[in-house]
Amino acid sequence: MTMDGKTKKHLEVLREMRTRAVLGGGQQRIDQQHERGKMTARERLALLLDEGSFQEFGALATHDFSAFGLDKHRYPGDGIVTGFGKINGRRVAVFAQDFTVLGGSFSEVQSQKISRIQDLALESGIPVIGLNDSGGARIQEGVRSLAAYGEVFVRNVLASGVVPQISVILGPCAGGAVYSPALTDFVIMGGDSCMFLTGPEVIKAVTGEQVTALDLGGADVHAGRSGVAHLATDTEVEALALTKLLLSYLPQNNNEDPPQITPEDPINRMDESLNDLIPDGENTPYDIRDAIGSVFDQDSFLEIQPNFAANAVIGFARLDGYSVGIVANQPCFMSGALNIDASDKIARFIRLCDAFNVPIITFVDCPGFLPGTGQEYGGVIRHGAKIIYAYCEATVPKISIVTRKAMGGAYVAMGSKQMRNDVTFAWPTAQIAVMGAEAAVRVLFRQEIKSAPDPALREQELLAEYREKFFNPYRAADVGQIDEVIEPRETRPRLVRALEVLRTKVQMNPAKKHGLTPI
Ligand code: HXC
Repeated sequence: MTMDGKTKKHLEVLREMRTRAVLGGGQQRIDQQHERGKMTARERLALLLDEGSFQEFGALATHDFSAFGLDKHRYPGDGIVTGFGKINGRRVAVFAQDFTVLGGSFSEVQSQKISRIQDLALESGIPVIGLNDSGGARIQEGVRSLAAYGEVFVRNVLASGVVPQISVILGPCAGGAVYSPALTDFVIMGGDSCMFLTGPEVIKAVTGEQVTALDLGGADVHAGRSGVAHLATDTEVEALALTKLLLSYLPQNNNEDPPQITPEDPINRMDESLNDLIPDGENTPYDIRDAIGSVFDQDSFLEIQPNFAANAVIGFARLDGYSVGIVANQPCFMSGALNIDASDKIARFIRLCDAFNVPIITFVDCPGFLPGTGQEYGGVIRHGAKIIYAYCEATVPKISIVTRKAMGGAYVAMGSKQMRNDVTFAWPTAQIAVMGAEAAVRVLFRQEIKSAPDPALREQELLAEYREKFFNPYRAADVGQIDEVIEPRETRPRLVRALEVLRTKVQMNPAKKHGLTPI
């Protein structure tokens, strides 16, 4: 049967509109985007998704505004590409802002398109990935574009903890455009992207300060200082590859477990060098990532926020092919002491793992919370409480390994049975005490040292006595606080077996609307 003329005409119209949609803001704008070293929204999606898997929704939607010349800027799709696709065979909902259309500015139509896939993703239990490249609220649409943000934010929040949400920042992300990413689980910044609430022009007008967009909110700022970004890459291509990798550690939704990949690393592999990892010097630093790299499946460690609060290490890895979340103190940065930023970093990650059924494995080597007015004035009590809250609240399997210092709050917060830790191992080098030797002796024996015939000698004696008593794991093991003192090289097989036991763990928290996390 041949097509009649009318059908043919209809198809021609559709095809022409689709061709226009693919061109976004036009070839000239696409060329400009390329000249800036950036890909278009569609090129990005093509890299992110399995070939041929993308099905677009709302490709032809356009706005209906005419103020400030907007009628001359009606483009099919309205500056955003949305739909569903697959990553390594797993379904994902995606949106990609198109900077070639009015700077990717956020419009009512954009909001409707994003909201639509957010709704479908939430109902079907599918992760949402947003590729952001936007100048913020579309100025010409006034309050309509501001209100439109609210539609997306509320869906971000309702989906939080139900389906993974990942934001990839691939250009400017200004004004309201930063808040949807900030509400999601992960922010990945690629290339010369930047995030800021108020742009350089506004800052200049209001304060007179001159600052570039990158200095204001580039990846160095957000992956290193502010903690807004969780990962950063030099290029867009790397950012998209990292997104796929990150997704592989996560389940599709909170009712599923993360996928197990076929394990290749033998579960009984023991690394003899781990027995020499802890230096002889009590305060000599070592890199906890050496332990992590050795214990978990080969090359499986994906560190999150490596440059923010480096005194704590967090990330995903695999153990016998199963996804696990790792929290560790980092003795080679600030002696691994906990501070405000490390508390925020750790607490948020624990809650993320708990929400998505990822067991948590904690390596403890921490002299305690960082002392001083800077931390106290900044609210280290409030922030440190987040770690305690998060560990107590988490019902996923939790295993701790005390490698060296577990002093005071660090022991209680990061490894203690009382806070519902399931299994605690200690290496023979563990030191479990209320505080370090110097501080303890000063508090307890100030008078005795002062009145001794040789104060320095007496202090040394008391220090030695304190270390002898507390700087080992056996006291804690005697009273059942440590389940087993193990050789460091045994850590991998012991962890695999402990996790095997805990895999079916069921623990419930009391029913409530929600707790009051000390945010
Ligand atoms: C409408 C916009 C726009 C916007 C950019 N454009 N931002 N159009 N609304 N918000 C348009 C520009 O006019 C320009 O159009 C095109 O997009 C490309 O922008 P350029 O400025 O040429 O690009 P570039 O030099 O790369 O600078 C990008 C930028 C800058 C850093 C994003 O455009 C900028 O500072 N925009 C404003 C950012 C901002 O302050 N947004 C906050 C909005 S208020 P032509 O046709 O000239 O090429 C907000 C509050 C919401 O979002 C709060 C919710 C909680």
